[in-house]
Amino acid sequence: MKKVYTDEEICRVLQDLTSPESIRLHDRTDNWFSRYNGFLHDPHNTAKYVRGLRNTLKLEADENLLGKTVLDVGSGFGMACVVMHLLGAERVEGIDTFVPMVETTQSYSSARPELRDINFQKGLSYDLPFADGTFDIILNFEALSHFVNQEQSVAEATRVLKKGGKYVIADDNNGANARIVRENREIWERFENGPPGEIHGHDAKLPYVESREQILREAFPELSDGDAKDLALNTAYMRKQDVIDAGERFLREGVKPASRFQADRCPVEPHAGQMMENLIDPRELDKTLMALGCKCETVAYFGGDGVGGIVKLGNRMLNALVPKELLIQQSAGFKIHATRVA
Ligand SMILES: C[S@@+](CC[C@H](N)C(=O)[O-])C[C@H]1O[C@@H](n2cnc3c(N)ncnc32)[C@H](O)[C@@H]1O
Repeated sequence: MKKVYTDEEICRVLQDLTSPESIRLHDRTDNWFSRYNGFLHDPHNTAKYVRGLRNTLKLEADENLLGKTVLDVGSGFGMACVVMHLLGAERVEGIDTFVPMVETTQSYSSARPELRDINFQKGLSYDLPFADGTFDIILNFEALSHFVNQEQSVAEATRVLKKGGKYVIADDNNGANARIVRENREIWERFENGPPGEIHGHDAKLPYVESREQILREAFPELSDGDAKDLALNTAYMRKQDVIDAGERFLREGVKPASRFQADRCPVEPHAGQMMENLIDPRELDKTLMALGCKCETVAYFGGDGVGGIVKLGNRMLNALVPKELLIQQSAGFKIHATRVA
């Protein structure tokens, strides 16, 4: 039988993994590991993180994952995979599209015997390399809002979910909340068109339109200034290769693309091919999941994910007492537990 670690033991593994030495040794992302997960070296934060993940998975303090097959799509630096593996899951798969992150997770997991069985690999949410009905639990933790082809990603997750399995989606980009919609649109505008700087807690760097111009100028030095700028403006939402293909077509056939940025549509970072931070309306997502044969339980979530105790209780009470339609319009975050019934 697989060993099930206690929460205290899990916290110690996480603290160790995120120590400055471990990060220096394994990080392949130019310091993102530290920026994203360095906080977990602090015991207070680690305990909060493990508690938060238990909340999200709806696992009580004495429950484990023995015998479960688990997939985390958009697994990032893999901390949720580590916790789920140490909670005894039989098989844990982490999929992420960003190669340096995947290499980071592969580096630390292969260096530690207790984590060696976790399988981290590069992959795409909308084309999962697994057979139908493989997993008991699938997780999208703050990840679905970054996926291009969101509907196809959700359909893929339900395809590889077992009948009776749980698909858990937690996200803070609640498209049912008018304030979040307004703020996200301001963030989108800044990431697409600039100027660089802080906006609602995000750090806008080189505007995407300028990134696309750079891609075009590098691939086609013969382009005039005017054409490079015009093509960059008209290749919004395209990933790097699509931008290059559009430039090639223009030079070959004189045809300009017509993909302009729209204020109400989340932009795509061309190099990583990811949505900046898309809005998800949980009410619409519920409908999509139901059409895919799932039964959904959706909760509005206030106060951040890693909080337990009184905040967890407050969330439970609010969701039990206030009509869902009203509550979901007020919260930044939401969680969906979809059970595949068909
Ligand atoms: C905000 S991070 C969340 C990471 C992790 N779940 C966590 O909570 O720390 C979103 C992750 O989704 C990944 N991602 C974006 N688009 C993806 C796609 N289409 N398929 C798989 N992973 C994707 C990104 O590379 C990134 O690691």
